[in-house]
Amino acid sequence: MLFQSDLLTGRSVLVTGGGTGICRGIALELARHGCDVAVTSRSSEHLDPTAEEIRALGRRAVSVEADVRDAEAVAFAVERTVSEFGGLDILVNGAAGNFLCLAENLSPNGFGTVVDIDLKGTFHCCKAALPHLKQRGGVVLNISATLHYLGTPAQLHVASAKAGVDALTRVLAVEWGPHGIRVNGIAPGPIADTEGVRRLLDDAAKQRAEKATPLQRLGLIEDVSNAALFLCSRAASYITGATLVVDGGLWLASNREAFRMEPVSGR
Ligand code: NAP
Ligand code: COA
Repeated sequence: MLFQSDLLTGRSVLVTGGGTGICRGIALELARHGCDVAVTSRSSEHLDPTAEEIRALGRRAVSVEADVRDAEAVAFAVERTVSEFGGLDILVNGAAGNFLCLAENLSPNGFGTVVDIDLKGTFHCCKAALPHLKQRGGVVLNISATLHYLGTPAQLHVASAKAGVDALTRVLAVEWGPHGIRVNGIAPGPIADTEGVRRLLDDAAKQRAEKATPLQRLGLIEDVSNAALFLCSRAASYITGATLVVDGGLWLASNREAFRMEPVSGR
């Protein structure tokens, strides 16, 4: 059994994309530390098993289907969460889509679909949650990426969307700070055993990524959920507008091959 605490007892959270992968990990971690947890995405087949796991940890759970591209459906998911738990303290925006496609082959709808899910979906959720987050002071946590720090090929759509998410994190931190709402992000590197990595990296690319990462491994879901626990807790009470990179140092090291300088002899 992993460590449990009452750090977040009495808090309630809505996690988009919380039925699978990284955000399922975040939902369970916040539950382990006392949160009641609502999970939302398009498919109750993904959500219901996670809701059961949350109940097994002794917390209340809500599973509600919503496509984050649909502002009305998102508003309904937020209202369901509030009516079950009596309020909303934390919103985690993790719902996202990704596929590999070079820009020259990307259709307008392919580009727009990812922007609609990742960026506009995050906006819809933030807007719907705001009146509730204002009531008790709250936290928004946006799951971003590091792809847009560099010119990552075949990722124009995601890089554009996540750059927008980072902008949204910073602007809302400034606008909503006076309401007692902190807005932060997490930018994971490649995380093992996730759909994101299955879609982007074959076995050879995973091995290259491990070697290129200063900490010499892919991330684990718990590496991200531990960071989420910190940013959602009182331990981060003076942190807002920040996007915490959780990538073992990978993106910082990504020009290492080009700049592999040997000391010039005699100097
Ligand atoms: P994942 O398991 O596929 O998570 C994506 C989730 O989003 C799924 O639960 C999916 O559920 C939901 N979703 C997709 N479209 C939706 C929509 N239109 N409306 C509502 N929900 C929707 O993938 P993951 O790899 O764990 O990624 C989780 C997050 O981490 C994403 O924000 C991703 O960009 C970010 N990230 C991941 C990595 C990585 O290495 N995996 C690296 C950097 C960033 P339904 O199918 O049920 O809708
Ligand atoms: N390469 C190029 N274009 C693609 C593509 C691919 N692999 N997959 C989808 N598209 C395009 C489609 O062709 C379509 O464009 P078009 O109308 O011009 O043909 C557009 O994207 C929308 O595709 P569609 O399948 O209708 O979207 P959807 O709303 O059903 O699904 C996706 C959204 C495409 C993001 C889908 O991959 C998904 O549901 N992903 C969720 C899980 C995920 O991506 N996890 C990883 C998170 S990091």
